[in-house]
Amino acid sequence: MNTLIVTGTDTGIGKTIFSAGLVQALEATYWKPVQSGLEEETDSQIVTRLSGRPALPEGYLLQLPASPHLSAEAEEAEIDPDTLELPQVDGVLVAEGAGGLMVPLNRRALYLDLIARWGAPVILCARTQLGTINHTLLSLKALRDAGCDVVGVAFIGNPEPEVEETICQFGKAAHLGRLPYIETLRSAPGVGSDAGGPAAGGPGATRPEEGAEALATTFAENINLDLIREALSKGDPA
Ligand SMILES: Nc1ncnc2c1ncn2[C@@H]1O[C@H](COP(=O)(O)OP(=O)(O)OP(=O)(O)O)[C@@H](O)[C@H]1O
Ligand SMILES: [Mg+2]
Repeated sequence: MNTLIVTGTDTGIGKTIFSAGLVQALEATYWKPVQSGLEEETDSQIVTRLSGRPALPEGYLLQLPASPHLSAEAEEAEIDPDTLELPQVDGVLVAEGAGGLMVPLNRRALYLDLIARWGAPVILCARTQLGTINHTLLSLKALRDAGCDVVGVAFIGNPEPEVEETICQFGKAAHLGRLPYIETLRSAPGVGSDAGGPAAGGPGATRPEEGAEALATTFAENINLDLIREALSKGDPA
């Protein structure tokens, strides 16, 4: 299997930033099957800017920043999950979900159903903030109940060692590391706008490439790539 699925406990928790670090580290190709919301930089544009790696065209590009089924309905369209097969690429493919697992794609299918059908190993991104134990354990249970192969949990945010340990213990999941908050990402265009950082190009703004460099270094220092590579090689013929 040459594909990794990056999903999360919620929307806006840092899946795209994590994915950018991951595709850079693995020299992978990125794919966002369903992009809801086109007013700001898309996830593919963020990943390309921060990783320098290619992104495949999205399966669905929907204007409204909402749950995919509602974004599609706003355009009098419907997402057909059968059209979202994992693309074939040379090297590794990193596919990022939308929001969390129980997000509807249409009135019959959840994102989780699609991930289960793909059968590729899944990395669950989780915040370290209060509330994460419940969200992360529920997400792990949902993934396992659906028969998904869980690589482990990648935490994002300030260190909360006891919380992280509790999640991995109860959730019987590997700790894939913790991506800390990266200050320089705040001033890159379209990134960190909800973090109260300086506007792009405003006073204190950093060069976009500084964000990319900081992400690459921080990712390499904090994320357990060996465990992730192991999950990828599991499906390979001996
Ligand atoms: N490690 C980090 N350091 C600094 N900022 C971060 C980090 N992770 C996420 N952010 C910021 O938090 C916001 C949300 O992150 P991101 O877009 O990666 O979330 P997401 O889980 O991919 O959301 P969506 O469900 O919309 O795809 C962005 O503004 C991003 O720049
Ligand atoms: Mg995202």
